Amino acid sequence: MPKPHIPLEQIRAEVEACRKCPLADGRTQTVFGVGNPAARVLIVGEAPGKNEDLQGEPFVGAAGKFLNELLAVAGLCREDVFIANVLKCRPPGNRDPRPEEIELCTPYLREQTRTIDPEFIVTLGNFSTKFILKTEVGITRLHGTLQKAGRFKVFPIFHPAAALYDGSKREALENDFATLGQLLRESDAAALSAAADETAPGAAAAASSAAPAVAPGAAAAGTLSVTATSAAGGAPSAVAGEPAEPAIDQPRLL
Ligand code: URA
Repeated sequence: MPKPHIPLEQIRAEVEACRKCPLADGRTQTVFGVGNPAARVLIVGEAPGKNEDLQGEPFVGAAGKFLNELLAVAGLCREDVFIANVLKCRPPGNRDPRPEEIELCTPYLREQTRTIDPEFIVTLGNFSTKFILKTEVGITRLHGTLQKAGRFKVFPIFHPAAALYDGSKREALENDFATLGQLLRESDAAALSAAADETAPGAAAAASSAAPAVAPGAAAAGTLSVTATSAAGGAPSAVAGEPAEPAIDQPRLL
C-alpha cells in the first residue's frame, strides 16, 4: 500500500528546519519553491542565487525575469506552474551544487514531485536534467527532446541563465518553450478525444479533427532515449521508459 502524499506545507516545514549540510550555515533562508500546488508543469532549476536567498523565492533575479517571458511563449504564467530547485539553499558564490548536497537535498524535491504530481517536469540545465533522468547525457544533446521518467513526461531545456551569458542559447530556449506549449496542447487534444470517445464514439473523430494541428514530429523528432546511468555513479536507477518506478520515486527518506 503506497504511503499517502506528504502535504506541501509539511515538506516546506521540513525544508525550513533542515540542517543536513553546511549550506544551511550560509543561507539567509531556504527556497522551497512557489506556484500552483496542483500544477500540470513542474519547473526544476538548479539552486537559489543571491536574490532567491534574500527573497525566499526561486527565479526572482535576471534569469527569473527571462523565465517569465519564456513561460509566456509556452502559454503559461508563473501561477500556472510550480517552480522548485534541486537544492533548497544557496551554494556560496553560486558555485555548482556538490554531489553530496544533491543527495541530501533531493528527497525534498522527490516529495514535492509526488505531492504535486505534474504531467510534465521541465528540467532547466544540466543539474536538474541529470538528476531527474539519472543520465550523464548533457543538456546540449537533450534539450527540446521529450523524455520519460516513470509516469512523468520530462522536457529538458537549457537553463535561462545560460542565455544571459551566451546569446546564441536564447533562440533554443524560445523554441523549446514553444514546443512545450505545443506538447501541452497536444496532450489536451488527446485527453479531449479520449473523453469524447468514452461518452460517444462518433464524437471522438470530430473532437480529434477539431484539435489544433501539431507540426509533424515537432517533439517526436527530437525524442532521444536516455541511457540508464546513475548520475551519482551508484546503484542502477529508475530511468526513462520504466513506468513502474519513476526516477523521482527513489526510496522515501522523509
Ligand atoms: N537559478 C536557479 O537554478 N534557480 C533559481 O532559483 C535561480 C537561479
